[in-house]
Amino acid sequence: MSDYFDIRNNKVTKWGGFKMGKHAVIISVTDERISQYPNLKDYIDLHSSDIVTHMTESELLVILKNVKQTEQSTEKVRMTAGDIARQLGKLKVQEATIAVDTLQTVFTEVNDHEATMAFVEGWHLGQYEYTTYKSKEPLHHTELHIEGDEVAEAVNNGKIRAASMNFSRDLMNDIPSELNPTTFPKRLKDELEDSDVTIEVFNKAKLEEMEMNGLLTVGQGSEHDPVFVEISYQGDASKPLVALVGKGVTYDTGGINLKQGRHLSDMRMDMGGAAAVAGAMKLLAESKAKVNVVALLQIVENMPDSKAILPGDVIRYKNGKTVQIGNTDAEGRLILADGLLRAGELEAEYVVDIATLTGAIANALGSKLAGVFGDEDLSLKMKQLGDVNGDHNWPMPLVDSYDSYLDSDYADFSNISTKGEAGSITAGLFLRRFVPESCKWLHVDMAGMMSSKEEGYYANSATGFGARLLADYTEYVSK
Ligand code: BES
Ligand code: ZN
Ligand code: ZN
Repeated sequence: MSDYFDIRNNKVTKWGGFKMGKHAVIISVTDERISQYPNLKDYIDLHSSDIVTHMTESELLVILKNVKQTEQSTEKVRMTAGDIARQLGKLKVQEATIAVDTLQTVFTEVNDHEATMAFVEGWHLGQYEYTTYKSKEPLHHTELHIEGDEVAEAVNNGKIRAASMNFSRDLMNDIPSELNPTTFPKRLKDELEDSDVTIEVFNKAKLEEMEMNGLLTVGQGSEHDPVFVEISYQGDASKPLVALVGKGVTYDTGGINLKQGRHLSDMRMDMGGAAAVAGAMKLLAESKAKVNVVALLQIVENMPDSKAILPGDVIRYKNGKTVQIGNTDAEGRLILADGLLRAGELEAEYVVDIATLTGAIANALGSKLAGVFGDEDLSLKMKQLGDVNGDHNWPMPLVDSYDSYLDSDYADFSNISTKGEAGSITAGLFLRRFVPESCKWLHVDMAGMMSSKEEGYYANSATGFGARLLADYTEYVSK
């Protein structure tokens, strides 16, 4: 007896015979096993889904249709694996097997090492869910077996990439009462304790000594003191120093310019930049990458309070520049400025800052792309890396003639533009004023990329965007 269901929509046509705990085999449409079952080939051909499932007495066949050459990519491999992993998890299937040959048959344009790595990565990302506050049973994890020669390295890399991105997701999903400037450093230490990194945490007294005035100012209204965390990994100390600067606003109320609107609860994810950097450090350290990298995380809560910074006030930065606060909700750039100055002190050759910086970037690029500003050649490279690793992004311009929009009558410049246009570009131009001259700099605005809906290897959850992108970029510039 055999039954069919559409794995994408989880629609079951005639259900029976299949018992929990069985084995699934993932095969291609050309697999000879298909001919053993009458009408199965026709059924597959007629089926609208590109993944078709068939239950036999002994196992569950997951049949992958051939993918058009133009639609083939490592990302397609990941998304396919994520879909299958989640659906088999829902069916509580104990284990699943796929042969590297099957991947080669279905994804002719992707080399077998890359396809294996991507499949494993997508599998473990697809099984992700954030269940800390759910009473329901967590998703069953179907164990994946890859059949083929010399697959260990690809499997291991795929697992490390997924675990790193899932770490970023966990940090972003965590609720603000649990993850705040007081608890964040310990969370990082716990996760990275077995990795070959050194972690330094600078408390408020140290921040005053270091003149991290953006961070201190933004943190004034919170019961949690701001912290600055520096994580170093030297897989090869002879390589150029790469600094990854992450915005870690554990909650952004807007401050005295209090935010309004329905999506305020998403502002617990305003530390997505710091989460991306932390994920990238885990990825680089666990894969023993030959790089020399330092993470610079500004961790703070933006709260309104009698002690909070007021609009109109002025901050003096360590480099002597003064900034008038036009809007306390434009806090991200104020804290990133400290991180960029610190990158200069450490003599980093390459600097990337990453932040959920402006709502305007989501208007411009939507929810599937981050915007990348700065060095034009490197931002093109960043796009190419994202096309391959799934952290999609697009180069954006830093328009010199908009620079004057930041003018202030009272300080050297303001933290907001005087014009109601090009909000992401003017934010980038603000940051550019703090980039040390010796640094090759990129700025990634990931505000549109905070959360996702269930699709492929994404869940109804934080995305974990940026961990893979920053790690791959660091490796690229260290070649
Ligand atoms: N964290 C926000 C940006 C944001 C908005 C991220 C929506 C994700 C979703 C940032 O601190 C902010 O409030 N930016 C302001 C800047 C404005 C006051 C110049 C914005 O984008 O509206
Ligand atoms: Zn804000
Ligand atoms: Zn913010």
